[in-house]
Amino acid sequence: MALSVVEDPGAGTDLRERDDVSGQQDISTTSQWQALAAHAEQQRDVHLRELFAADGDRGTNLVAEAADLYVDYSKNRVTDETLALLQDLARTAGLSERIEAMFRGEHINTTEDRAVLHTALRAPRGTNLVVDGQDVVADVHEVLDRMSAFAEKVRSGEWTGHTGKRLTRIVNIGIGGSDLGPKMATVALQPYADPAITSVFVSNVDGDDIARALADADPEETLFIIASKTFTTIETITNARTARTWLLEALGDEAAVAKHFVAVSTNDERVAEFGIDTANMFGFWDWVGGRYSYDSAVGLSVMIAIGPEHFREMLAGFHAMDEHFRTAPLEQNVPVLLALIGIWYRNFQGVATHAVLPYNQYLSRFPAYLQQLDMESNGKSVTRDGTPVDYQTGPVVWGEPGTNGQHAFYQLIHQGTQTVPADFIGFVHPADEIPHHHDLLTANLLAQTEALAFGKTAEEVRADGVAEGLVAHKTFAGNSPTTLIMAPRLTPSVLGQLVALYEHKVFTQGVVWGINSFDQWGVELGKVLANQIAPELTATDEPELGHDSSTNALIRRYREQRRS
Ligand code: F6P
Repeated sequence: MALSVVEDPGAGTDLRERDDVSGQQDISTTSQWQALAAHAEQQRDVHLRELFAADGDRGTNLVAEAADLYVDYSKNRVTDETLALLQDLARTAGLSERIEAMFRGEHINTTEDRAVLHTALRAPRGTNLVVDGQDVVADVHEVLDRMSAFAEKVRSGEWTGHTGKRLTRIVNIGIGGSDLGPKMATVALQPYADPAITSVFVSNVDGDDIARALADADPEETLFIIASKTFTTIETITNARTARTWLLEALGDEAAVAKHFVAVSTNDERVAEFGIDTANMFGFWDWVGGRYSYDSAVGLSVMIAIGPEHFREMLAGFHAMDEHFRTAPLEQNVPVLLALIGIWYRNFQGVATHAVLPYNQYLSRFPAYLQQLDMESNGKSVTRDGTPVDYQTGPVVWGEPGTNGQHAFYQLIHQGTQTVPADFIGFVHPADEIPHHHDLLTANLLAQTEALAFGKTAEEVRADGVAEGLVAHKTFAGNSPTTLIMAPRLTPSVLGQLVALYEHKVFTQGVVWGINSFDQWGVELGKVLANQIAPELTATDEPELGHDSSTNALIRRYREQRRS
């Protein structure tokens, strides 16, 4: 990668005066958007059955590959024309330029005036990327080396607890991006983990969460990783304080904190204030968004579980997808294809949700992880220059592993009244080779995508001899779109590829919608109000309440019942 020095293009200027956001076009007024709207009208009644009948090779024509991922998007309601129009739209939105701008380290997160450089977290050692005068890749590798040394010491037993015992329970305390990523990856890569280490994740301020995590823990053998980009998040600080009290009550010596607590943060001051020696802190940078951070020091718990070598394999997988995204033409660019197909449904077919259905139990936390990645990034209703959008942006993202979901919510996807596009993720080889299971799992995956696409007509149902009164009930309309992502095996590298695929999909959609995918102001109002309400719930006198009549009444009722 040849990358150059980038100065902050807009520091200190009003957002509306900055070249990169002022005079932003409304994408929905472009001729490319209008062409798609007209095309959608023409395609309204076209069924996947017809598209497959028209092209006998559709199932091998509409596929793409990136690193180890084989992506079959043929069971989507798209034609070559649809894809060409969508690619025109992406070009009009300046996608290629914005990809370059992100990789170069420009401050594309305009409302926070920051670069967006999670791709630098997995750039190979020696790659040159200087941003705002700082060699960011050198910084990344310096932290990775410190993390590796620490992880090795914990894994080998060289780093012990205060009383000299080996640390076998790693408790990551964090929330949002400081929890969802490491937790998802630790579960996903469990077959690669050291069985002598138990990984536990505490996120919720609900005391039940930490109570459960500490219930059967031995303080002498427990290491706490306090992960928080800001180190001000109330849930994390509250849980960290509780953990500290628990440890000190058991070990009775302040000096124990240095052996049992490490921090992952961008805020050394707050870490020191909390009482963690900054020598035991692993840093990252403001150009890593929380939801894009688990391949930074935020992944320390993952690295301790699976070892530095596997962690680096995971980073190499991320990087392989980064390179694909940066260099592949739009027509074969997998994150771009998935993003554009999503836009087709969201903006031109009135679709509201997107399901992610991994046929792999180790990916059980993957949909939850993607929820933050996608919904916190693209849950926006103004464009980068602050203008309200007049079109839909991010969908509701959700999912569960197959086959469990088949016995829960698939009924609605098959026969409900709304279209639910879904990504099915499968693997050729399982982690645990137990006779019969994996082929049966894969048979279900393939059966579902076939059934969703082609359905079963009333004639076919009648031909089975079904009584006329039941024909309508047993008919499947089909035409439900799915994308199938297949990889040889869920390795650390493949996990990195999958995550980077979705990161870049979300980025591409944000570019087309003209929004800033990298801030999250929407989470702030609730935090402010919670800080106001907390003392009102516990005040000993009768506080004057200035909320609405519903909130006031609920506060009074809660106070009364807590006191009785
Ligand atoms: O409140 C939302 C959020 O800011 C997320 O974006 C972030 O991942 C999470 O809180 C945790 O933040 P931190 O890592 O600073 O504790």
